[in-house]
Amino acid sequence: ITGCGTDPADPAGEAVGPADPAVAAAETARRAPSARVVEVELVARESTVDLGGTKVRTWSYGGTVPGAEIRVKAGDVLKVRLVNELPAETTVHWHGLALRNDMDGVPHLNQDAVPPGGEFHYEFTVPDAGTHWFHPHVGAQLDRGLYAPLIVEDPANPGDHDVEAVLVLDDWLDDIDGRDPDTQLATLKEGMDMAGHEGMTMFGSDLLGGDAGDVDHPLFVINGRTTADPFTVNAKPGQQVLLRLINAGADTAFRFAVAGHEFTVVATDGYPVEPVTTDALLIGMGERYDVVLTAGKGAFPIVAVAEGKEKRAAAILRTAPGRADVTAGLPELIGRPTTVDELTTPASHRLAEREPDVTHEVLLGGDMASYRWTINGAQHPDVPPLTVHEGQRARLVVKNATTMFHPMHLHGHTFQIAGKAGPLRKDTLLVLPGQEFALDVDAVNPGQWMIHCHNLYHGEAGMMATFSYL
Ligand code: C2O
Ligand code: CU
Repeated sequence: ITGCGTDPADPAGEAVGPADPAVAAAETARRAPSARVVEVELVARESTVDLGGTKVRTWSYGGTVPGAEIRVKAGDVLKVRLVNELPAETTVHWHGLALRNDMDGVPHLNQDAVPPGGEFHYEFTVPDAGTHWFHPHVGAQLDRGLYAPLIVEDPANPGDHDVEAVLVLDDWLDDIDGRDPDTQLATLKEGMDMAGHEGMTMFGSDLLGGDAGDVDHPLFVINGRTTADPFTVNAKPGQQVLLRLINAGADTAFRFAVAGHEFTVVATDGYPVEPVTTDALLIGMGERYDVVLTAGKGAFPIVAVAEGKEKRAAAILRTAPGRADVTAGLPELIGRPTTVDELTTPASHRLAEREPDVTHEVLLGGDMASYRWTINGAQHPDVPPLTVHEGQRARLVVKNATTMFHPMHLHGHTFQIAGKAGPLRKDTLLVLPGQEFALDVDAVNPGQWMIHCHNLYHGEAGMMATFSYL
């Protein structure tokens, strides 16, 4: 018994399972009879939020930014009653979960958008442990305050850290300098005023601040706090601290470091990686990384520098009294940060060795001047679907033929980066200008799924396609 209707006259909804028999069978197979049921109410509404010295009028889940974390265990059934008090239609996409297709939150593809005043009952088995998150899949809503962590614990592998914190990185535009994301998106699509922007396009950012840096937008935040009043992670000296990092930014890749500390990357997008210890890590939009460090004694800036924008978001790691200067330069940030090139999924979590049955080119095109972002030369919805048959392995050869960063995200599946020394499983991958990756995907979750650039503005300006499971 799954799902509920959206009819406001019948808020309890007539319970219905997935209409598609293949989707229904996959969901039944996933669900353990003994599964715990976790129920959550999620109210999307207009709210005033204090970002640490800056108050903004925005849209949020429940009045806070980020919204309240949802925490479940792998195998649980999650039931979320979404109440839409926004002045616009909305949905929720559960970023990183291989869930039942009709709960994936893409309007027209997976469900009808939920009208203002309406509600929708999401219900699905949560199959995948790891650091995930959720956000709407409608227009530019993600670039308001509508996002929150979805942490799925692995009952078989709780980890051996002492302290855990979730850090959500974001570039904040809404209600700064009279801006809002929907207007920004419309302006970009109409054709951008390129003055002052050409020289900056290599940095992977479209929405730069004022020309002389005098207009302070976007703001950069960690857990909804600017550097003026940073979020603090409290620990004791010597403790093992797990930081779950989520980049919720619409338009910003971050270079992450912790002053005075190395850290060890232990997972990405819900998959463990062979541990790599580093000073700094590059995190694309939509990507997640779990890192572990041994806390020193003192107060240490945690810094996420916005690539190409020369500004930063910050938090503090505190194990003793004292001041942390979150604006100071960090030696950890000098030099090349760790990227996916250094990371490998352990053998236990890799796809089986196998040749692909079907290969699709995924050529990423477009430029800032036209603001047409394309896949294989076309803009969504005109991009031919990337098709695959049940049980097949598809190889997606993703090439970035532009000068911008494109964090590519696949719904409902993970891919494995092939053709490099160590295979790496992910669901979101930052593809830098000129880069090419071969991504192997096993068609194991029936339905129609989005694959798109998680630069929100690129995705909404055409860089989206369907991964179509036939
Ligand atoms: Cu987090 Cu289709 O997106
Ligand atoms: Cu992009």
